[in-house]
Amino acid sequence: MKNSLFLLATCAIPALGRLSLHERDVPAVVGFDIKRKDVSDPVARDVARRKRSETVSSALDNEYNLYLCNITLGSDKQALRLVIDTGSSDLWVNAPNSTFCEEYKEYCDYYGTYDATDSDTYSYVNSDFNISYADSSSAGGIYATDTVHIGDAEIKSLQFGIGYESSSEVGVLGIGYTTNEASESTTGESYANLPKAMVNKGLIQSNAYSLWLNDLDSNEGSILFGGIDTGKYHGELETLPILKTQGVYAAFYITLSGVSMTNSSGTSNYSSSSSLPAAVLLDSGSSLTYLPDAIVEDIYNELDVSYSSSAGYGYLPCSYAEKDYKFAYSFSGLTINVDMSELVMDMGGNEYYSNGDRACAFGIAPAGNTDAVLGDTFLRSAYVVYDLANNEISMANTNFNSTTSHISEIGTGADAVPSATGVANPETATSNPTAKHGSVPDSTDLPGTSSKNAAGPKPTQMPKHMALGLAGAALLVL
Ligand SMILES: *[C@@H]1O[C@H](CO)[C@@H](O)[C@H](O)[C@H]1NC(C)=O
Ligand SMILES: *[C@@H]1O[C@H](CO)[C@@H](O)[C@H](O)[C@H]1NC(C)=O
Ligand SMILES: *[C@@H]1O[C@H](CO)[C@@H](O)[C@H](O)[C@H]1NC(C)=O
Ligand SMILES: *[C@@H]1O[C@H](CO)[C@@H](O)[C@H](O)[C@H]1NC(C)=O
Ligand SMILES: *[C@@H]1O[C@H](CO)[C@@H](O)[C@H](O)[C@H]1NC(C)=O
Ligand SMILES: *[C@@H]1O[C@H](CO)[C@@H](O)[C@H](O)[C@H]1NC(C)=O
Repeated sequence: MKNSLFLLATCAIPALGRLSLHERDVPAVVGFDIKRKDVSDPVARDVARRKRSETVSSALDNEYNLYLCNITLGSDKQALRLVIDTGSSDLWVNAPNSTFCEEYKEYCDYYGTYDATDSDTYSYVNSDFNISYADSSSAGGIYATDTVHIGDAEIKSLQFGIGYESSSEVGVLGIGYTTNEASESTTGESYANLPKAMVNKGLIQSNAYSLWLNDLDSNEGSILFGGIDTGKYHGELETLPILKTQGVYAAFYITLSGVSMTNSSGTSNYSSSSSLPAAVLLDSGSSLTYLPDAIVEDIYNELDVSYSSSAGYGYLPCSYAEKDYKFAYSFSGLTINVDMSELVMDMGGNEYYSNGDRACAFGIAPAGNTDAVLGDTFLRSAYVVYDLANNEISMANTNFNSTTSHISEIGTGADAVPSATGVANPETATSNPTAKHGSVPDSTDLPGTSSKNAAGPKPTQMPKHMALGLAGAALLVL
């Protein structure tokens, strides 16, 4: 207990200030909040200006694509906003002189950079930092250690990457398995990344955390390291095994057994597809959900979604957000419901159908040759506990806009996630996950695939390019 800390958040959700700590006096959890792009984001503002002048709702329009968390690095507490990413495992930041920041200074000023020469606690590790993401952005440079602050939490000598060669304006806080660190492919060695280091330093008991993204119209969610918040979901947490990737636990793949859609006329069941059960990756760094093509084709046909191969996703009328359609994803016995309103992404109003209806992006896209990914358009509807210590995922339906909070600590050993029960007879995907995401070469768009696939829906660990891409898709008339 003496090492246990409860830490308030930097990224400021008031809910965390109203904790009720019945379960234990001082739960050993590290909680902080994550925020989607806010109004002051220069990129959002820039896009908003070009879109329309209602600053608040325009800015919200543009908040679909990133979940950011504030940290500081170094003795001089250099402030950074990082994309929180369950699909990769390295924390990295741009150096002020990175190739990207030299060219686009205003973006880097907004997200923050790290200047090693300004920190007394900086220490060089090696020059083997080199990561590339499935959206083909990349960063390369050195590994270093320095002091990280997250809220009131201080982690000394945390290893992270410094990007000198970079094609990204924003750094990443990858919180996956250490086996998926970029160093594994350069040096063959792993290191204690943020969640692991929190365990090693005694800030939390077990390498496990919970992610609550909240709904599409809300711009804040929260992540809780070492604990669960029973105020943030409905029903019971149910537990599923994580699937190994190439023989090791490296990424958060679980088995998806069924997908269906229900409205007042009845239920469409997409589960007869031979692509199920399928291995699906839980990836907070992906804005969209990518399902096997056969399922997506059925859904698109039924809902009249038009696929744009250049965009890599489908469009449908924005008015569909009001339709009373409910998707159900089943994982053996566990079902997560996703309302249509969570799947219709308003890009700000510059895309229209020829009949004058506004077009919105649809939150489910075809996976093509890549593994299926459950991104933010799924994850917002689920409360997910990532238990790396036990290689399990526990999930429940989210409690949207919850302001209540009851935090329980995740202890050690099997069944450590409080009040979670295992699903009976969990199914296993017929095909194995292929890619250890995070450092996967983007080799999926090979010649010879159908034109739909060749256009490359790419599961992205880093959706920022998508944000830019969507802005760029303005004036498309379908
Ligand atoms: C992150 O830091 C920025 C800059 O200090 C601040 O404006 C923003 O509100 C912070 N976000 C959160 C969620 O605390
Ligand atoms: C950036 O600065 C560092 C020293 O702070 C230097 O080692 C590195 O080569 C520089 N990178 C570029 C791309 O100029
Ligand atoms: C990273 O690795 C790729 C492919 O192995 C290589 O082309 C690139 O030059 C490397 N980048 C850096 C900065 O080392
Ligand atoms: C959550 O709150 C937002 C406003 O912050 C609202 O637009 C949205 O409809 C709410 N969601 C639910 C499911 O009540
Ligand atoms: C329910 O969904 C089907 C498509 O699956 C559609 O044809 C039907 O019109 C919908 N019913 C209502 C009441 O919207
Ligand atoms: C869909 O069909 C499968 C069998 O193909 C069945 O097991 C499942 O219960 C059905 N789901 C729904 C929601 O009807």
